[in-house]
Amino acid sequence: MTPRRIVVGISGASGAVLAVRLLQALQSQPGIETHVTVSDAAWLTLQHELGMGPADVTALAHQVHDVNAVGASIASGSFRCSAMVVAPCSMRTLAAIAHGLGDNLLTRAADVMLKERRRLVLVAREAPLNLAHLRNMSTVTEMGAIVYPPVPAFYQHPQTVEDVVRHCVGRLLDLIDVPQAMSQGWTGLHEAIGTHDLGAGIGSDTVRTGNAPANANANANANANADADADADADADADAGAGAGAHHPLPL
Ligand SMILES: Cc1cc2nc3c(=O)[nH]c(=O)nc-3n(C[C@H](O)[C@H](O)[C@H](O)COP(=O)(O)O)c2cc1C
Repeated sequence: MTPRRIVVGISGASGAVLAVRLLQALQSQPGIETHVTVSDAAWLTLQHELGMGPADVTALAHQVHDVNAVGASIASGSFRCSAMVVAPCSMRTLAAIAHGLGDNLLTRAADVMLKERRRLVLVAREAPLNLAHLRNMSTVTEMGAIVYPPVPAFYQHPQTVEDVVRHCVGRLLDLIDVPQAMSQGWTGLHEAIGTHDLGAGIGSDTVRTGNAPANANANANANANADADADADADADADAGAGAGAHHPLPL
């Protein structure tokens, strides 16, 4: 069977663990051949965030290409591969891809994916975003890339950073059509409530019993407030809050 080739570019944004978990997941899949290229800045973040160096990355990939080797296989569209993920994707690499610079092997390989109309996913990590970042995201999206910022899916109730990373990598695998069991697909609010105790939260109000408990919550909140004005505030909350998530189950 011809292996399915996937290119992974690691650039120097924070979140090197995303690349490592992605490569580990791809390594566990039969029939996948990974081609990895790591920017100079990414070697710094790999070392700083994970204590990892070239030997560690090499152990996770079929082939690691020097980011300055612009003549490597993945620099050409004639090298058949089905998808590329840049994880994490720095704003510099995003900008270079958005403007077709191809100034190193990573950005050249991404350029190839776009010109060949192949799947390209950019795990763009920065916060907050300036107008250049936003415009570059818009530009790459217009060219066919998918921008996937590594933001937590709070509705999945992550307990650890690892939970957040696993969800993100699971969704990345979904986007490049690789089977995964790292992130369960959403099955609807009813099913989710069956497996999590949401207490007096939004789910119990809106799904289990409709509007009445939302009003009850609002009244309870109002009672906790000492001054008379609080009752008026709570009534307003009750009106606005039914189904709108005004009463959070967590102590904020
Ligand atoms: C520890 C560390 C964390 C960084 N985090 C980010 C980040 O989250 N996003 C970003 O765009 N740049 C980040 N940078 C800056 C980039 O590494 C820098 O802009 C670099 O030039 C990117 O080069 P590259 O795109 O070729 O990897 C970080 C740098 C360091 C050293």
